Amino acid sequence: MSRVVVTGLGMITPLGVGVTPTWANLLAGKSGLVSTKTLPDYQSGGWKDIPCKVIGKVPQWNSEDHLDKAESRRLALFAQYAMAATQEALTDAKVDMQQTDKTRFGVAVGSGIGSFHDIHDNATSFTTGGYKKVQPLFIPKLLTNMAAGNISIKHGLQGPLHTVSTACATGLHAVGDAYNFIQNGYADIMVCGGTESSIHPLALAGFARARSVVTDFNDDPEGASRPFDARRNGFVLSEGCGIMILESLDHAKARGVDPNAIYAEIKGYGLSGDAHHITAPKEDGDGAFRSMEMAVKRSGLQPHQIDYVNAHATSTVIGDRAENNAIVRLFEGCDDKQLSVSSTKSSVGHLLGAAGAVESIFTIKAIHDSVVPPTLNLDIVGGHKGGDDPAKFAKFDYTPHESKSKNIDYALCNSFGFGGVNSTVCFGKYQA
Ligand SMILES: *[C@@H]1O[C@H](CO)[C@@H](O)[C@H](O)[C@H]1NC(C)=O
Ligand SMILES: *[C@@H]1O[C@H](CO)[C@@H](O)[C@H](O)[C@H]1NC(C)=O
Ligand SMILES: *[C@@H]1O[C@H](CO)[C@@H](O)[C@H](O)[C@H]1NC(C)=O
Repeated sequence: MSRVVVTGLGMITPLGVGVTPTWANLLAGKSGLVSTKTLPDYQSGGWKDIPCKVIGKVPQWNSEDHLDKAESRRLALFAQYAMAATQEALTDAKVDMQQTDKTRFGVAVGSGIGSFHDIHDNATSFTTGGYKKVQPLFIPKLLTNMAAGNISIKHGLQGPLHTVSTACATGLHAVGDAYNFIQNGYADIMVCGGTESSIHPLALAGFARARSVVTDFNDDPEGASRPFDARRNGFVLSEGCGIMILESLDHAKARGVDPNAIYAEIKGYGLSGDAHHITAPKEDGDGAFRSMEMAVKRSGLQPHQIDYVNAHATSTVIGDRAENNAIVRLFEGCDDKQLSVSSTKSSVGHLLGAAGAVESIFTIKAIHDSVVPPTLNLDIVGGHKGGDDPAKFAKFDYTPHESKSKNIDYALCNSFGFGGVNSTVCFGKYQA
């Protein structure tokens, strides 16, 4: 089995376009969350009656900075993000396309939803104008696998072409699946990650109806996402994309990658189902526990060797509690204060199908730069009136408010999604 390393990163988030601005803003404790009242179509667009007013929107996105005009017109926003972040990651990895066997170069990029905007607009025009109003590009633009398809065409990548769509676990499943493809010899090198752009009033209305999104902090958008905090009240709908270049260590060595330019190694991947409820986790976090346990075991590690957990924690009352219960169970008997936990959703919100990919990049940067990014707004750990057990929230360093320097040898990244899916990837510092 091949060792698999990470050699290139690209991302677009509410904290910025690109890895460098996003990471700097994240470590500085900045928030990318804003009020829907700042949107130009707030009055006319259907936002007004929705009880949640907070979103995480990519700032200053201009597709023509990244794609030519004709190309960008043919791509839905989620695919545009993926094309731009892929270019950033390929440049970062310094892949020489002429020298690379493209039949061994694959793509695994997922999306939870695809193009919500195209579905909405074409449904509306079909209802009012009939058959002739449906655009020829409607179907190709909305499919969740179009980001992957377009990346493959643009760069001529002919290896495995894969898209996973497991709601909010999509991005992490894409990373884990790409790792498996390389480890098992299906490909030498992969573009992988997740992308999402569903900031649409109908989407926000749907999440509000499902009682998933925050409604208590409409006048304080930056305070709205508060994972593990006593006043947490729901997640913040957000958008963006995370893309990584994974390759076998042999492939990286053969093309002369500088060992210092290897960000991290993937050590193991775990996944499971809760088999419980379509949107709610089991309170004991059993599914999350099993996916984390599997990732640690398959890495050949013991829990006490893990230094940091980038939690899925979206700032919902029961989701955060269940995940915390699962972490407590996995690290039972370890020296508790050794473990740092944080949820970067406090800064960027919940990027749905892109979350696991973006958070994998945060986890990798944390390992590479020896720093734990903070959990913003964490004023009182646990203690939610709906039944947090304070003892279970006293265990770890949840990295409140400020980032913290720390050597990290191994870290876990968690992603869970509607449908009952749980996934975990274990990353480690690269050691020759
Ligand atoms: C319908 O879909 C096409 C292709 O995705 C898109 O360009 C168009 O803006 C959509 N909306 C309407 C109103 O047709
Ligand atoms: C991307 O896909 C669209 C269909 O959604 C297609 O029209 C376009 O030519 C593709 N662009 C590239 C660069 O592959
Ligand atoms: C495991 O997956 C379920 C599926 O919906 C998810 O809701 C839940 O949050 C995950 N488990 C835990 C403990 O977080």
